[in-house]
Amino acid sequence: VIEIPVNLASRAYRIIVATGARADVGAQLAKLSVGRRVALLTDATVRRLHGEPVTRGLVAAGFEVTEVLLPEGEQAKTLDVLREVWDDLLEAGCDRTSTVVAVGGGAVGDLAGFAAATYMRGINFVQVPTTLLAQVDASSGGKTAIDHPRAKNLIGAFHQPRAVISDPSLLRTLPPRETQSGAYEVLKCAVLADPALFRALRDSPGQLQRWPEADVDRAIAAACRIKARIVAKDEREGGLRRVLNLGHTLGHALEAATGYARFTHGEAVGWGLIGASEIARRRGLLAEPAFQAIASAVDRLGPRPGLSRIAPQRILAALAHDKKAKAGRVPFILPTAIGRVAIHSDVSRAEVRSALRALAGRETPRGRG
Ligand SMILES: NC(=O)c1ccc[n+]([C@@H]2O[C@H](COP(=O)([O-])OP(=O)(O)OC[C@H]3O[C@@H](n4cnc5c(N)ncnc54)[C@H](O)[C@@H]3O)[C@@H](O)[C@H]2O)c1
Ligand SMILES: [Zn+2]
Repeated sequence: VIEIPVNLASRAYRIIVATGARADVGAQLAKLSVGRRVALLTDATVRRLHGEPVTRGLVAAGFEVTEVLLPEGEQAKTLDVLREVWDDLLEAGCDRTSTVVAVGGGAVGDLAGFAAATYMRGINFVQVPTTLLAQVDASSGGKTAIDHPRAKNLIGAFHQPRAVISDPSLLRTLPPRETQSGAYEVLKCAVLADPALFRALRDSPGQLQRWPEADVDRAIAAACRIKARIVAKDEREGGLRRVLNLGHTLGHALEAATGYARFTHGEAVGWGLIGASEIARRRGLLAEPAFQAIASAVDRLGPRPGLSRIAPQRILAALAHDKKAKAGRVPFILPTAIGRVAIHSDVSRAEVRSALRALAGRETPRGRG
């Protein structure tokens, strides 16, 4: 069992990473001095595959559990769903001592977290992330949100969980492309702050599905540790926390420019990592061998759709719409070495264009075109 503290004074909590932890959710919750009532929010797929042991553990620990089924994926993150969840919480008799337990991917976690943040001005919230992306990123840090028709994650709140319980064995049922998507976020953490994790990724059999279990546990924990350290210093993204957006500036633009249909989030981040490294390399901030190491580490995670057929203007337009854009320029997080980054707010359109040209010219291994 690996335990990672998130040091946030009165809102401090632990991330638990352990194979089999799904059966211990009840026991963990019992340690938190919360009320007996639990609303377990999940979706039909996750419930069918993994719901049973979580519910059984909660009941065995003496909790009264009401299950609330959410639509799958991004469809959960709407105002209509949120309104229904508020109704369900009320109907189940949830009060300020009750706990919302999210069992699912990042979408379930974001909706459940926002419901917990808003119901009665905020009730207890526990995350049981079931995708790799959710285990290494979405479940910790306290960002919760629903989507607005005009932009993803536009309506939300910071609401830290009381605990995050990650069971890597849940990932066995995840479609390979989803696992791969999360693996790009692990790599992002490595490039950002952890040369040892970077070496582990480089030396492992490319695709994470083929790793020994203990290595997967360790990689998840390493990624969580990096995020926890950064969030503890900058809970509300006043400054430092922005570095977690490494690879995301271009990544988000690629997702938006292709209507969120072509790339998984992680695949877009993979391209974004190479793009940011390319900009850094051309500026002389990142040495050639480090650039090559990052680019080939991205490629090793597996094939991803190419971007040669996306018009650069579309990507540049999407960049200009970035929430963080100021006077038409978006801050870029640029790697300066493996394990180190710097924030640069003066990256020009011309630099982005030439990075995009370099990306478009890159063949990905067995690329999806
Ligand atoms: N709050 C944050 O800090 C943060 C960070 C990153 C991403 N996000 C959000 O996370 C969401 C994406 O999350 P995601 O990538 O986890 O995808 P997801 O939550 O959309 O889930 C994808 C699909 O995987 C299925 N699934 C989940 N666990 C499974 C398992 N163990 N086996 C088989 N199928 C399983 C789900 O039923 C769903 O259909 C986005 O909405 C994004 O905005 C939030
Ligand atoms: Zn991300």
